[in-house]
Amino acid sequence: CFSVRGILKFRPVFLSTMSLEKAKQVAAYRAVDEFVTNNCVFGVGSGSTVVYAVQRLAEKVETENLKVTCIPTSFQAKQLIFKHNLTLGELDTNPILDVTIDGADEVDANMTLIKGGGGCLLQEKIVASCSKIMIVIADYTKDSKKLGERYKKGIPIEVIPMAYVPIKNKIVSVYGGDIKLRSAVAKAGPVVTDNGNFILDWLFTNQDLDWHNVSTAIKNIPGVVETGLFVNMCHKAYFGQPEGIVIER
Ligand code: 5RP
Repeated sequence: CFSVRGILKFRPVFLSTMSLEKAKQVAAYRAVDEFVTNNCVFGVGSGSTVVYAVQRLAEKVETENLKVTCIPTSFQAKQLIFKHNLTLGELDTNPILDVTIDGADEVDANMTLIKGGGGCLLQEKIVASCSKIMIVIADYTKDSKKLGERYKKGIPIEVIPMAYVPIKNKIVSVYGGDIKLRSAVAKAGPVVTDNGNFILDWLFTNQDLDWHNVSTAIKNIPGVVETGLFVNMCHKAYFGQPEGIVIER
């Protein structure tokens, strides 16, 4: 049912998807190989790159007979832990983690991150803040000099539903740009996070802001739960490249 011409037409898309997946996989495997140790408490991030990290973790636990306690950052992460028969922990019993490995939507030259493309930023930030080390795993498209250079969907901000309009107006009046209430499908209802909140995506226009100050100021607006700006949290980033090598920063 596929003509040769049809296959050739889609080949570049197919190949770029392949190389993107390869890039995610090599970054994830490298990070897990370097940071997972016996008896460690391990933060499991969220997103498609983390799927490879959990795969590798499960392989290591099995083949090297490791004991690792996994703290999830989302419903998705918890499902991955269950799927691979890993040991589930929680912050109540493991408030200090040895390492968290998570994805990112963008990483700038100062290691400031935009996270929350998948809407899991709140639990991701809580878990990262309890970790001795936070490692980012990402494909080459996430590596940038300035936030906004590569990731065009803006900075996610988790908010209490009743306050989304005033929060949106306050941010735009101070910093400009545009803010969209995230919905899964155009004209559908808003996306609801694992914590029952809404997500605003702030399409900022000024790439030269002081992100620490911006995040603190936005968090001070009543009704803001958390921002997807991770400033001074990431210790190291692994960027998988299309040809299968990994660049570390
Ligand atoms: C979810 C996140 C993800 O880590 C981020 O969106 C990157 O995801 P992916 O690995 O699928 O590119 O922050 O809230």
